[in-house]
Amino acid sequence: MKRIIIVGDERAEGNQWREVFRNRDEKYQVFFVEVSKLCDVGVRRRKKEEDNLYITTKTEGFWAPDGLIWRWGAVKPNWIHEPFLELLKSFPKFPMVSRPEAHLICANRLRMLSALSSDPEIPIVPHVAFVTSRFLIESRYKPEYPCVVKIGSFHQGLMKAKVDSDDQWHDLLSFIFPLEMPVVIEDFIKFKRDLRLIFIGDEVWSLVREFEGWKANRLKRLYVEKPTEKMLDLTKRAREAIGNPEYGALDLVEKDDGSFCVFEINDTPDLDPDTIQVEDSYRKVADMLIKKIG
Ligand SMILES: Nc1ncnc2c1ncn2[C@@H]1O[C@H](COP(=O)(O)OP(=O)(O)O)[C@@H](O)[C@H]1O
Ligand SMILES: [Mg+2]
Repeated sequence: MKRIIIVGDERAEGNQWREVFRNRDEKYQVFFVEVSKLCDVGVRRRKKEEDNLYITTKTEGFWAPDGLIWRWGAVKPNWIHEPFLELLKSFPKFPMVSRPEAHLICANRLRMLSALSSDPEIPIVPHVAFVTSRFLIESRYKPEYPCVVKIGSFHQGLMKAKVDSDDQWHDLLSFIFPLEMPVVIEDFIKFKRDLRLIFIGDEVWSLVREFEGWKANRLKRLYVEKPTEKMLDLTKRAREAIGNPEYGALDLVEKDDGSFCVFEINDTPDLDPDTIQVEDSYRKVADMLIKKIG
């Protein structure tokens, strides 16, 4: 019996993960841990002949998992999950789907944008980044309109607003002020198509998203296309820039002139086969972990 830890939301994905670890040659037991509980579970035990990651769970007590999948996106980066990922970094052979380095980068929008900016061939969205909202207010920075303001590191369109006028900007500042969160202000990009390049192992899909409003998160229609060479090259570069995670998604748009503009790379993308139009997506990720466990 092998025991797998999934750091994520059991209510959202419990059935899907349990299903794909069922009926395998080996028996797998899947445990979920919420990121807010990680303060109880990140334990390292060093003995003379053993250096294992141990965790504690309520009913099982103290035990060493055989593998781990990190599924916690859309987080407010906090003092609990970052030290846990740092701890995982010190177990380079511990079976995980993507390495903790990629999760650490993607947990924070500023870090993710810096990582992507390290490759000049990635056409990252023009932006100004502020480490805290307080600094943004104190700096009296004034953007050009239209612009897009992104607060914190949330996904699914959360904490993002398009601003067209001074009035809207000042209203928004009044909400941002007490938050003490990182803020990114981007040029508003006019585009022809919104794309999500999903990668799992060596496979890449280009998901075209049509939507209501200005954000891809209020969906009208979805379909998958075969990615072009240019898309494959961008995916490879973006992946490398964050430490080569085994799966993820690159969000970008294609402009009228055919050029691209990249918004973000996501290390824990939605895997729902209906939403991403990729069959067996959970199974493909589980297969990668099983292969690593050996
Ligand atoms: N600067 C921008 N200009 C135009 N549209 C944008 C911009 N930033 C984001 N969007 C739209 O909003 C969607 C969500 O933004 P994204 O940065 O990918 O954050 P999330 O993590 O919420 O998905 C994008 O897929 C795109 O449709
Ligand atoms: Mg996105």
